[in-house]
Amino acid sequence: MAEADVRNNGDRNGVSADEEEYRHFLRIINAYKRYKICSLNKLAKTEKYLCELPEHHRELLSGYKEHLYRVSDCIARNDLVIQQILQHVNMFEEASPFQVSMREEKDIGPPTLGEIDKVIATIKQLVRDWSKDGEEERNACYLPIIEEIQRQFPDDPLRPKDEVKVLVPGAGLGRLAFEIASRGYVCQGNEFSLFMLLASNFVLNKCCGVNLHSICPWVHQSINVLKADDQVKEAWFPDVNPADILCEDGQFSMAAGDFLEIYKEPDAWDCVATCFFIDCAHNIVEFVETIYRILKPGGVWINLGPLLYHFADMRGEDSIEPSFDILKDIIIKFGFEYLKDDTKVLSSYTQNPKSMMKYTYESVFFVCRKPSETEEMVSSS
Ligand SMILES: C[S@@+](CC[C@H](N)C(=O)[O-])C[C@H]1O[C@@H](n2cnc3c(N)ncnc32)[C@H](O)[C@@H]1O
Repeated sequence: MAEADVRNNGDRNGVSADEEEYRHFLRIINAYKRYKICSLNKLAKTEKYLCELPEHHRELLSGYKEHLYRVSDCIARNDLVIQQILQHVNMFEEASPFQVSMREEKDIGPPTLGEIDKVIATIKQLVRDWSKDGEEERNACYLPIIEEIQRQFPDDPLRPKDEVKVLVPGAGLGRLAFEIASRGYVCQGNEFSLFMLLASNFVLNKCCGVNLHSICPWVHQSINVLKADDQVKEAWFPDVNPADILCEDGQFSMAAGDFLEIYKEPDAWDCVATCFFIDCAHNIVEFVETIYRILKPGGVWINLGPLLYHFADMRGEDSIEPSFDILKDIIIKFGFEYLKDDTKVLSSYTQNPKSMMKYTYESVFFVCRKPSETEEMVSSS
């Protein structure tokens, strides 16, 4: 589900990086804005086919026709949340989503199917990260990481928790980073997808209360549905009030940008926590190298996730896909002390719990440590 939303820094074909960034922003705004119409158009195609069926079939399918009305209501409900997400976008001062001109919209053209899919994926991510319905999935993925952080960095007068700096690259909608910060650590989530960043900005900065909004995350899944009600089920968010910890100074932050580009400072972090992230790389070795460099001596890397390798089957994208045993070897060759792993952590990702088909990963959980300065001196002498 990684989004290759990476932008370049220099000029390309006479288009400045700023212009390119702005166009990228417009495309994402446009995808959010056109979600409703694109989804309703797809639904209309089904309705049209339904109307063409023989009359006795249509009679038998009257319940299904009623159901399609409910699907269309759900799309409208999702769109209401999208409107609110867009209302709070202020990335480019001169262009709030509502000020983007018709001409600009025409210039960039309609959203691609892939872009609409990313809007839908973001809606499902709201459930994973910020609803009661996502709690089981979160517990399987986030709790092992959080508990390991607490084991590695217990509150200690010599190193109080609020001096322990944790980085969560590829933070999605920010819940893992939020949970780490709410346990007293200083935590920064990092994310480069604007789809995610716009939605997390809304939840983290504009939702002051519990279960304020509802979405219908499974409405676009029309296959493997056991009961019609399951497809139109709503989920409420946020299940906790994000404002509860945001007031405390500097304890929690989200940083926008490519992990590989914005984290250059060596020996800066006590802990890097990655969840369903490392397989988003074109070159996973670059991720390992960066994590090693930015960890303080003695710092810990905690990881949980599969090796789905997001670019593996993407046309035109470079990718390497080393297996876990090869990756582990690379991690050790970088100098990490490999503390432990568990290669059978059952976990899922934005899984519809009522679907007749479910994906479960046997994720790998591992913990490794960058040697302390004295350990490094001993090993190099
Ligand atoms: C599969 S999602 C996991 C999100 C979250 N950690 C979770 O477990 O729900 C991976 C996330 O990493 C982000 N990502 C991928 N490559 C990135 C990079 N180089 N820098 C920052 N974020 C990146 C993607 O946009 C995506 O939101």
